[in-house]
Amino acid sequence: MSALNVGSHEGRVALVVGAGSQGGIGLACADTLAMLGARVAIADLPNTPVRNLVEKLPNNGRHSGHHVDVTDAESVIHLIEQVIEQHQRIDSLVTAAGILVMENFLDVTLDGWESSFAVNARGTLLVCQAAARQMIRQGAGGRIVAISSNAGRVPRLATVSYGASKAAVIQLVHCMALELAPYGITANALCPGSTATSMMVDVQARGDPERLEGVIRGSLEQWRTGIPLGHLAEPADQAAVAAFLVSEGARHITGQTLCVDGGQTFF
Ligand SMILES: NC(=O)c1ccc[n+]([C@@H]2O[C@H](COP(=O)([O-])OP(=O)(O)OC[C@H]3O[C@@H](n4cnc5c(N)ncnc54)[C@H](O)[C@@H]3O)[C@@H](O)[C@H]2O)c1
Repeated sequence: MSALNVGSHEGRVALVVGAGSQGGIGLACADTLAMLGARVAIADLPNTPVRNLVEKLPNNGRHSGHHVDVTDAESVIHLIEQVIEQHQRIDSLVTAAGILVMENFLDVTLDGWESSFAVNARGTLLVCQAAARQMIRQGAGGRIVAISSNAGRVPRLATVSYGASKAAVIQLVHCMALELAPYGITANALCPGSTATSMMVDVQARGDPERLEGVIRGSLEQWRTGIPLGHLAEPADQAAVAAFLVSEGARHITGQTLCVDGGQTFF
């Protein structure tokens, strides 16, 4: 009987998309994977400082920063080509690119709905598809973690477009896991709960500490449960779970949806 490696990512190449936001979940995933020994390629929109951020990752010197727009199929294919040119392979993929558009149902705009689906759903599809094709070419299996949200499983006020697009990610992962299983590629959805990033603090709570406190406490009028563990998640909490799901130790886990939310949505 031999134990499985749940810790070291030495010798593995990880691509983390949506890792260009300082203090964001994607960058935390890249940081954790780099600390655990992976060579990491990080990617984000052209207006993000990926090339500076990559220099600050642990074991600096063997990672790379790239630009991509996940809504654009050609841009995504170009990203995969660049990563292969630089690192020759992709063993693990974490897709964290996402946007949060907050609109109540009666005020939902087509723009809000379509941009949510373009980034959150189409972007996840395009990145996972291109990376999976590469993993199949390599012939040695692979690991995919798509970051969805607990808002893809439970209703929240003003999150119609966001929640629906994140629910699409969850079902995309289920179907993808089924079809990639014969290739030894696992695919899982990680559903963060409220996590202390700019998306949560600046966009959702609009920088208002009262609103953040309300997220933690919950609110019966707004039909919102609080966080039983009593605080927001840190990006590192999401990263630790993503790193496990793309490790050798998670080789028998696929098609799952895992909420990392301090109990915000357990039922
Ligand atoms: N923070 C939370 O409370 C929370 C909760 C649940 C789920 N999530 C999800 O976690 C993921 C990371 O969010 P975060 O909180 O770190 O937010 P963030 O805004 O810090 O990071 C999102 C990143 O996605 C990138 N991105 C947006 N559109 C893109 C595009 N078209 N192409 C490439 N990159 C693009 C942004 O530039 C940004 O760097 C998102 O998918 C988000 O929906 C966050």
